Amino acid sequence: MAEKVLVTGGLGYIGSHTVVELMAQGFEVVIIDNLSNTREDVLDRIAQITGQKPVYYNGDVCDANDLEKIFAEHSDITSVIHFAAYKAVGESVEKPLEYYRNNVGGMITLLGQMKKANIERIVFSSSCTVYGDTDRSPVDESSPIAQAASPYGNTKIICEDILRDESVASSLSVVSLRYFNPIGAHPSALIGELPLGVPNNLVPYITQTAAGIREQLTVFGEDYNTADGTCIRDYIHVVDLAKAHVMALQRFGKMDNRFEVFNLGTGNGNSVLEVVQTFENVSDTKLNYRIGPRRAGDVEQIWASTTKANDILGWKAESSLEEMLRTAWAWQQTL
Ligand code: UFG
Repeated sequence: MAEKVLVTGGLGYIGSHTVVELMAQGFEVVIIDNLSNTREDVLDRIAQITGQKPVYYNGDVCDANDLEKIFAEHSDITSVIHFAAYKAVGESVEKPLEYYRNNVGGMITLLGQMKKANIERIVFSSSCTVYGDTDRSPVDESSPIAQAASPYGNTKIICEDILRDESVASSLSVVSLRYFNPIGAHPSALIGELPLGVPNNLVPYITQTAAGIREQLTVFGEDYNTADGTCIRDYIHVVDLAKAHVMALQRFGKMDNRFEVFNLGTGNGNSVLEVVQTFENVSDTKLNYRIGPRRAGDVEQIWASTTKANDILGWKAESSLEEMLRTAWAWQQTL
């Protein structure tokens, strides 16, 4: 019998790509999404890719009744992948209470309802932001957790702490995945990132600039201590990232410890200017950009040690930066 999994935020950017990979691997998927940062037609697009429509509930993880109803109607759900959360760093500084309420409160409500329904497996969307401004790249999972630079980052740290504590107190098993910088889109160009308003992140800003929606990209700082002076990140294709969630589900039942964390990155760092140049090559366009001042709170350079995910999850990122940017551009051109 197919294993049934609840995907919270399953119509969002990483969630939708993960739903596609889960369905391709024969999982039965139930989605809960409140459409706060996506559109309902993503569901039809998932169906176009997979040939099958997943079960979808328009609901909120902060609402215990919504979750109770789903778990009652699908008593065969055995695990949850929890994406549903706010993710804009700058907005979180302006609206900390909303971030704590939604990201931390939502997860506590979810865990409470999972417990009532005897569901003991959760995969959590964490972030490399938990490592803060580290000078130890490649950063591995044993690196210390830093004081968060934003309420958003703090919600990820707090949620990991809650999950770790609950895994000790109960029989909950947790796989926490610390994403580096997810970019790109599904090769079908049917699903991808749908930034609300002006994008904060580099790649959607680049593709919107190339598409003429934004006038000019500002490169935030050229005076960092890196080869070309711009910040370095570990960009990972969202489809590679999605596949890691399938591997994470397969980890349950074999875990050494009921709380495990894995970095998800390629293990390579690229500078902002390398991303810009690679984008210009794959899109055959000239990007309008200027060098501006540093952005407050930016880490100079960070990339992942992926040894643990490679060895234990048996997962490895496969896409090149070219491929990531090619799919991001193909997706942008459909919007
Ligand atoms: N950048 C620009 N111009 C832009 C946007 C970004 O130069 O218009 C630069 C940034 O300064 C940074 C790099 O591009 O050097 C990547 O920036 P992003 O905003 O795309 O990504 P971040 O690394 O800042 O953010 C990511 C995740 C967050 C997470 C954070 C932790 O998106 O969720 O990593 O560091 F909190």
